[in-house]
Order: sequence, then structure tokens, then C-alpha cells
Amino acid sequence: MIWKKKELNVSNLKIPKHVAIIMDGNGRWAKQRGLPRQAGHRAGVENLRPVIDACIEFGVEILTVYAFSTENWGRPESEVKGLMRIFARVLNQEIYELHQQGVRVYHLGNLKGVDDRMQSKVEEAMELTKENDRLLLNVAFNYGGRDEIVQATRKIIESGVAPDEVSESLFNSYLFTAGLPDPDLLIRTSGEQRISNFLIWQAAYSEYYLTPIYWPDFAREELYEALVSFTKRDRRYGGLTN
Ligand code: FPP
Repeated sequence: MIWKKKELNVSNLKIPKHVAIIMDGNGRWAKQRGLPRQAGHRAGVENLRPVIDACIEFGVEILTVYAFSTENWGRPESEVKGLMRIFARVLNQEIYELHQQGVRVYHLGNLKGVDDRMQSKVEEAMELTKENDRLLLNVAFNYGGRDEIVQATRKIIESGVAPDEVSESLFNSYLFTAGLPDPDLLIRTSGEQRISNFLIWQAAYSEYYLTPIYWPDFAREELYEALVSFTKRDRRYGGLTN
């Protein structure tokens, strides 16, 4: 039998330019199957591929994923090591496939405090893919929203900006996401209903889509459902609609 991708028509949908995802539930996905947590993280990273493909197919321009938070260092050492091994593998191997596909990879977060080799791999990946324009994939790694705001504030002070010059747009230009539009749609998998320090400045007016599905099971069809839901939203940004 020839496997055929289900037809999903997006012509009547509003497509968010920027989608952000909290890829949660890898551990529970593994537990449900009697597998170690690391197997859940492996399945989680494998699931990025079809979701990236679906973003390109549906016309999403920017995908930002929460890969590792500043708080995730507090997990058991073996789990942190396991996650780092997964990131290293992506940076060493899968980056070439992403490059061929026209994906630009960009890092959000703090590279200080990350292993030197990993740091240079991240920089090489960004350099290799910097001309690509089919999809911008932002990987939030050693990222924390509060940390981002503190760092931006430090940089503003260091630059000698006068207090009355500090505006929202100036502040934006000191964030890791400088120059990027805010996420239109923020997805969190696994049934949790919190922001967990992810893009807390940028998501001020994002539409939220929460699904009980664990991240390794979040497929193209689920992304499509999220876009259907987004299409029905009435975005008012604090104002009124006619
Ligand atoms: C949350 O599941 C997931 C993480 C903390 C790690 C997410 C990382 C990946 C999917 C790999 C991404 C890799 C790249 C290179 C972008 P959890 O462990 O908190 O699950 P649980 O809440 O069920 O325990």
C-alpha cells in the first residue's frame, strides 16, 4: 500500500507568521510506554522533523521551540547529560538536512554556561544556515524569559541609554528576539497550562493553544488543528472589534 499524506487544506485559514511551541510531555510519553525518560526526549527531537515540514507546508515563517530552559539544569545530572547528547547529535548531524531544506537555525538564550564545544557548534550551525529563508527555526536553549529581560536591561544600561529613551521598541531591540515579530500563536503540549518562563515579554498578545497531547505525538494534523483554532480567534490587543 502506498502511504499518502492526508489532504489538509489551508486556503481558508489564517496562517500565523510566528508559531512558538513548548514541547512538553516527553517524560510522560516515555513513562506511559514503560521507557526511560531519555527515550521520550529522543522521540521528542524526532518529532521536530515532521513539525518543521508541516510549518513549511502550511506557510508558517518562524518556528520557535523551547528546547532547554535556564531552570532545566536543576534536573538530575543524568537527564541533563542525556539532553546535551541529543542536542550535540542534532548539531553534528541533522543540521545538514535542515540546511538542505532551507531552514535557518537561530539560537535564543545564553550560550555562556554551556560547554565550549557546544557553543561553537551552535555558532557554526547559525553561520551555516544564515542565508536560508524557507523557515526560521529559533531554538530556545539555556533560555529563560526573566533572564532575557535582565540581560536586556543590563545591556541598555551599559549602552548609556537615557531613561526617557527607553521604550517598548527600544527594549525589544535588546532581546534575543531583536528584529523578529512576536509569536502569533503559542502552543503547549501535554495538558499543562502555564508559560514556564518562555517568551514572557514577546507572548504578551500571543494566542494560546493548549493540547493534552504529549509532544512526541504532536503531528502535522495537530498543528493543523491549532491553525484552525487560531483562525477563529478574534485578536483585539486590548482594543475592541467593530
Ligand atoms: C519537556 O518534556 C521537554 C524538554 C525539557 C526537552 C525538550 C527537548 C527536546 C524535545 C529536544 C529538542 C531538541 C532540539 C535540538 C531543538 P518533559 O521532560 O518536561 O516531560 P514531562 O513533563 O512529561 O516530564
